[in-house]
Amino acid sequence: MSKVTVVGAGNVGATCANVLAVKDIASEVVLIDIKEGVAEGKAMDIMQTAQLLRFDTVVRGVTNDYSQTANSDVVAITSGIPRKPGMTREELIGTNAKIVKSVVEQVLKYSPNAILIVVSNPMDTLAYLTYKVAGIAKNRVIGMGGALDSSRFKYFLSQKLKVNANEVEGFVIGGHGDTTMIPVARFATYKGMPVSECLSKEEIDEVVKSTMVGGATLTGLLGTSAWMAPGASIASLVDAIINDQRKLIPCSAYLEGEYGYKDIMIGVPCIIGKNGIEKIVELPLKADEKAALDASKEAVAKTTAVLKEIGAL
Ligand code: LAC
Repeated sequence: MSKVTVVGAGNVGATCANVLAVKDIASEVVLIDIKEGVAEGKAMDIMQTAQLLRFDTVVRGVTNDYSQTANSDVVAITSGIPRKPGMTREELIGTNAKIVKSVVEQVLKYSPNAILIVVSNPMDTLAYLTYKVAGIAKNRVIGMGGALDSSRFKYFLSQKLKVNANEVEGFVIGGHGDTTMIPVARFATYKGMPVSECLSKEEIDEVVKSTMVGGATLTGLLGTSAWMAPGASIASLVDAIINDQRKLIPCSAYLEGEYGYKDIMIGVPCIIGKNGIEKIVELPLKADEKAALDASKEAVAKTTAVLKEIGAL
């Protein structure tokens, strides 16, 4: 028995609920939104595929009534406005900080033991806000960014290599921003071979660049933020937690000295299991990689400092 709440029945939240159902990851999924009827409609639409796709997960939609989310094991917070073409994730902070703060309070009232996955942008900063407002153990607050950015990195690598994406490994650390994310090319592999054996430096640079602006490219094409890979990325984290998979997934984690950083949330490789962040993995970074992470951390810290300026903390 596992209960998952997805807050926000927009594109990302609904896709997450759909993947959780289709892959039978959770027994019960509550999709909640402030807009009258939207969560109910999307949940009903998903449930009408149950007999077609043969899944047993029950998805329920509710408007505003957080008592329905009681005793959730995991809560994914996707609420807030998405970015429009030309906007950065950081520009959303004023509106989304307020929304996320009130959501966290409501969620914890009914699910005091839940593990929280924060998705709303600017993600690293809003995950930090969540951790501070929630007052719960740091392993229970996870920012979803690295899972998505890493899946985009593997996609672009597989395109360049012209191979099956499932045979490519790689991960992205740093902030979840167009200029702050760091696809760590040195650790990317194809069937265990470093990709530098299969691609030229120019080709790898192109993949890194495409990955960093992966979200912005989709926002340009779609007119709004992407949802398929974001929704599936959240579901993969929920799966790792509910089924105690202990998978290595880069996530925004609260750092207390790891990588030399304190009191910040930023993307680092994490072992994800039943307690949320089971372990933060410290990579043996070379000087240039550490310098890139330092710059990313400075940028994330700057956005995070805005929380105090706008009175959110
Ligand atoms: C993206 C948004 C979800 O990267 O941040 O598509």
